[in-house]
Amino acid sequence: MYDISATPLPSTVRLDLSGRSALVTGAASGIGKACAERLARAGASVAVLDINGDAVRQVAAGFGGKAIEVDLSDPAALDDLDIEADIVVNNAGLQHVAPVEEFPPERFSQIVRVMLEAPFRLVQKAIPGMYERGWGRIINISSVHGLVASEYKSAYVAAKHGLEGLSKVIALEGGPRGVTSNCICPAYVRTPLVEGQISDQARRHGIPESEVIEKIMLTEPAIKRLVEPEEVAEMAAFLCSPAASFINGASLTIDGGATVH
Ligand SMILES: NC(=O)c1ccc[n+]([C@@H]2O[C@H](COP(=O)([O-])OP(=O)(O)OC[C@H]3O[C@@H](n4cnc5c(N)ncnc54)[C@H](O)[C@@H]3O)[C@@H](O)[C@H]2O)c1
Repeated sequence: MYDISATPLPSTVRLDLSGRSALVTGAASGIGKACAERLARAGASVAVLDINGDAVRQVAAGFGGKAIEVDLSDPAALDDLDIEADIVVNNAGLQHVAPVEEFPPERFSQIVRVMLEAPFRLVQKAIPGMYERGWGRIINISSVHGLVASEYKSAYVAAKHGLEGLSKVIALEGGPRGVTSNCICPAYVRTPLVEGQISDQARRHGIPESEVIEKIMLTEPAIKRLVEPEEVAEMAAFLCSPAASFINGASLTIDGGATVH
């Protein structure tokens, strides 16, 4: 009943982004890496940003892009950045699993800085250029946890709900000036971030690690599998296509029906 093997992706959206530039955060790994590679394949010149310098330089080298090593939890480091991009994919994220009464406040603050404040600061820097050119795409990698909550993830759920609100405001301000802003809300995606949660989830829920995917991660989706990073990247690519020009302020789930209960 539970298929946890990787799912082959069908053919991809036809897209020509030559002449466009993109910035993808958290692109050293997982979803960010898949988005950066997809946009580069469509012809965009892509800058990839991550705290993990070695890994992000390797990703950039794969398609001749630019690598930026920055800690997005550091507002001063963001102040020094010069951002010029037609497409911004706010993707960098991290997780911490603990009940509210045990949640370290500094960790809460760090997660909100990386996953909510940094997207605001990056968009603030990029959007004047988008307005000048009359075209821009802000793509926020949110989560089903931008729409619903789970126990033990207070910072992550709060940051993602905040990102949903930020995206909607940018959509209203940017829409008349050619800039759309949308959220993509996946359920559990097969990435290192999810693999890193398995032991924590097992401990918190009192079950063996081998049962976490089936008993915690796949209980809600009607389709019993993990999402592949390339499926999220394909949605990001679609949002940059002419066919998606009227999609604005939306929260697009890729969750196998998890949030329709
Ligand atoms: N994996 C999932 O199941 C899932 C589901 C829904 C949403 N998401 C979201 O997708 C995004 C990417 O997640 P992923 O699963 O690919 O994770 P990942 O751990 O594979 O990648 C996250 C990247 O963000 C980078 N990063 C973390 N802190 C940073 C900081 N302070 N400054 C700069 N870069 C930093 C990491 O170095 C890493 O390369 C996250 O926002 C996550 O919340 C993931």
